[in-house]
Amino acid sequence: MHSVQPRPASFRSQGPLRGTVKVPGDKSISHRSLMLSALAVGESRISGLLEGEDVLSTAAAMRAMGAHIERTGEGCWTVHGVGVGGLMQPASALDMGNSGTSTRLLMGLVASHRLTATFIGDASLSKRPMGRVIDPLSQMGAEFTASPGGTLPLMVRGLVPAVPISYRLPVASAQVKSAVLLAGLNIPGITEVIEPVPTRDHSERMLRGFGADLTVEVDADGVRHIRLVGEAELKPQTIDVPGDPSSAAFPIVAALITPGSEVTVTHVGMNPTRTGIFKMLEAMGADLTYANEREVGGEPVADITARHSVLRGIEVPPEVAPSMIDEFPVFFVAACMAQGQTITSGLDELRVKESDRLALMATGLKAIGAQVEEREDGLVIQGTGGEPLEGGATINSALDHRIAMSFAVAGQHCYHPVTVDDVSPIATSFPTFEAMMHNLQVAR
Ligand code: S3P
Repeated sequence: MHSVQPRPASFRSQGPLRGTVKVPGDKSISHRSLMLSALAVGESRISGLLEGEDVLSTAAAMRAMGAHIERTGEGCWTVHGVGVGGLMQPASALDMGNSGTSTRLLMGLVASHRLTATFIGDASLSKRPMGRVIDPLSQMGAEFTASPGGTLPLMVRGLVPAVPISYRLPVASAQVKSAVLLAGLNIPGITEVIEPVPTRDHSERMLRGFGADLTVEVDADGVRHIRLVGEAELKPQTIDVPGDPSSAAFPIVAALITPGSEVTVTHVGMNPTRTGIFKMLEAMGADLTYANEREVGGEPVADITARHSVLRGIEVPPEVAPSMIDEFPVFFVAACMAQGQTITSGLDELRVKESDRLALMATGLKAIGAQVEEREDGLVIQGTGGEPLEGGATINSALDHRIAMSFAVAGQHCYHPVTVDDVSPIATSFPTFEAMMHNLQVAR
């Protein structure tokens, strides 16, 4: 877990950003690769794993439930799984740190195993709603004792055999979808998730890759019906985790807003359920080019080059939100430097992420001189037309890695330095972020 002592840091404009960088492995894919490898019988090998605190929480939890997980080199891990149904009673509470993905997906796994697990987490995670997974997993027969408001700490008592369900997602959430599907792995019969609004599909891709019988049917209304045949036997795999597009968004936006910049990020995951940020930036006039487009372990990948661009404000269609849900904080930074107005809506989910990202971004951006109106479900931003923002403020990042990194990026194009109150949470998803930004600075 990151240090309890806050570590403030200042970020200032230092001229153009230039160079080629690789961002760490995709967080969503890293979690899933550890979990599914831990449920396969035999040895899986993972390379490019994100070694951030969130993923390490997943690794520790899978170990505590019986998997043998070993780090063999930088980003390289081997996992000896216990087989679906083989997870064992953990000896103590599972500490999820800051990680909502670990918590919700593991609650799904535990729900259909004969064990009881207690989930605990940090102050940010302990505020986040777990009712969204408690509801379907209770229908499957698991029992929950949660803290008031359906939050951590909470205890899950799994059921064997649990009951397969057909569940229509009331909220567009890949975590809820994945929790239900992962529970379904150890349930006889067919577990179905009905997804009216598509969300990231890494679970579906990887479950299939591990040999699960999973089908996806899109009905006449465009609604996805995902069906998984339970009591699956997963076969060990070799997985190369692509770079995280959510992490790539930070150097890319930094290059777009900083005059004279040109930055290439290699090996970035280009799964269409994740690339909304790049599409929206391009709609604003961003100069992005893609090279070496290829497929790695069932996921599309490319190298992306971003050059400083004159951005124009846009209205972001709410249906794009799930494909860029984690990128809104840094997208708002780009919008602050664009010409004209950017309007976002349908972003209620941003209020229940690692922090209330609408409130914190609005407050922080206003503090550094941006014109921002906070609405219930989005921000309306009046851009500077490319001029730097004032800067010169200290930002409350509320244990949220993406808020911290977004303001570090904003600091690249401000008249005065931007201080982030605590950069230690950045280690949850992007431990090399500060070093990367430093390396991109030409005039250091
Ligand atoms: C994730 C799904 C998203 C995202 C999170 C990771 C995942 O959350 O915000 O960072 O790995 O499934 P929701 O599914 O709750 O939108």
